[in-house]
Amino acid sequence: MKLVDGFQRRINYLRLSVTDRCNLRCRYCMPADGVTPIGHEQVLRYEELERIARCAVNLGIEKIRVTGGEPLVRKGILPFLKRLGAIPGLQELVLTTNGVLLPQMTEALRDAGVRRLNISLDSLWPERFTQITRCGDLAKVLAGIEAAEQVGLPVKLNMVVIRGFNDDEIEDFATLTRQRALAVRFIEYMPAVVDDGWQQRVVPGREILTRLQHRFELNELDRSGLAGPSRDFRIAGAEGSVGVITPVFDHFCERCNRIRVTSEGKVRSCLFDGEEVDLKPVLRGAQEGDLEALLWKIVANKPQCHQMSGTEHGGNLLAGAPTMSAVGG
Ligand code: 5AD
Ligand code: SF4
Repeated sequence: MKLVDGFQRRINYLRLSVTDRCNLRCRYCMPADGVTPIGHEQVLRYEELERIARCAVNLGIEKIRVTGGEPLVRKGILPFLKRLGAIPGLQELVLTTNGVLLPQMTEALRDAGVRRLNISLDSLWPERFTQITRCGDLAKVLAGIEAAEQVGLPVKLNMVVIRGFNDDEIEDFATLTRQRALAVRFIEYMPAVVDDGWQQRVVPGREILTRLQHRFELNELDRSGLAGPSRDFRIAGAEGSVGVITPVFDHFCERCNRIRVTSEGKVRSCLFDGEEVDLKPVLRGAQEGDLEALLWKIVANKPQCHQMSGTEHGGNLLAGAPTMSAVGG
């Protein structure tokens, strides 16, 4: 039986976080004093993550995105990805990364069966990049992007747009797609760490599009089967594409096809819903039960829609979740 939730949404996309650790400290993702990392024994072993993945594929999951924290900081990630990539029935294995460690890994990632990389990049200005990540070196990420292009790994760049901080770079990011086959996606900023007055910092996706249309001729692209929630366009004559992801102002809940598993083995059906099901007791034999039943349980309770809107709500939106870095974005 394939996973379907109570609102007839087919669930075929799993986001699998392999670590809560990260080599950056993005301001919108982690609080200033950092987060206490989960103890090593609490983090699922690769065998356990693979068991979840296999079970999920048996239940109709077709696409797995490996996330973190930063997945590439976990030791042994390449052989793990290779094993995931070989699961029969899985159509797409993709990875979200901050790109810092990519330069030395792109070839191995491609050979392991990773089909595409989503790279988080919020500024093309070196100082600004260091400011938002609290420690990052832009040159490494740019080198990582080039390395991926060189080995033929398709790249999507995720830019979280924050008004008054990096919204003056929207056009520059879009310009990157003219000569390079990059897919740039602009994401509405969500207050994942407590941020008073966050509403003023969200740039609505439609405003981003209006700004782009002012400057470029945009043609809308069709959504393909396993595509995520972005609306995509191509600048006339461009190699790449631009898109907007609008979790705040124009939610895509009715098309949501995903579940998430944290690196501690907790499944969530919605980023903004506190309910989670812990797989670890069953994985480690501390509790009777089977994984399939637990996955069904969380999917059956997947909420129809989250309550967030750009004009209401304050504080941290990630109901009960520790941080974005723990849930994997
Ligand atoms: N708002 C919007 N997007 C976010 N991401 C992480 N935190 C936030 C936030 N507060 C996105 C990043 C990253 C992905 C994993 O999640 O762009 O690419
Ligand atoms: Fe790390 Fe990604 Fe969070 Fe930045 S957004 S701190 S790169 S997990």
